Amino acid sequence: MGTFLRFLGITNDDNRIDQATGLTERQKKLVQNTWAVIRKDEVGSGIAVMTALFKKYPEYQRYFTAFMDTPLNELPANKRFQAHCASVITALNNVIDSLHDPGLMEASLIGLAERHKKRGQTKEEFQNLKEVMLEVLRQALGRQFTPEVAEAWSKTLEAVFTKIYQVFAS
Ligand code: HEM
Repeated sequence: MGTFLRFLGITNDDNRIDQATGLTERQKKLVQNTWAVIRKDEVGSGIAVMTALFKKYPEYQRYFTAFMDTPLNELPANKRFQAHCASVITALNNVIDSLHDPGLMEASLIGLAERHKKRGQTKEEFQNLKEVMLEVLRQALGRQFTPEVAEAWSKTLEAVFTKIYQVFAS
């Protein structure tokens, strides 16, 4: 029966779990489709993540010499801040685009984590950002953030940040 269905192109690959990420093909598609909404406005989405992070952890703004003294309400209009926000989303674009190639995804995450570790960032800061990201996704996606989408994102962020934490542990 399986062979017959495969012959007709009716296979259920969507539910197959990728061992490297723990995600099913369907979950990867849900994540990529909803990320398409976020990446459409790189600057705006980056601003949403970074301002949410600074609101919850004001001390983190001190790490960014280019805009460390800019009041929170003036940050969204600050071009240096906007440039940083866009580069954060671009880095995440690469991660989400490489969900189908876990080796490539791992390589870009290791590079990202190593650069941050060298600058003195910590695992705890990444853990805090992970929670903030999930909250921003929930708000930005609104009704599209169904329980199934939430589960897919939660597993994706788990896989992504677990890789990052490995660098901090080494
Ligand atoms: C998934 C999470 C993160 C992503 C995708 C990300 C992305 C980036 C990118 C693309 C850059 C510029 C190039 C580079 O050095 O890689 C950068 C720089 C930086 N990031 Fe992150 N980052 C993340 C998490 C964090 C966290 C948790 C902190 C601290 C709370 C942080 C603090 C910084 C600082 C201080 C810089 C240097 C800024 C400067 O040029 O002065 N990042 N980040």
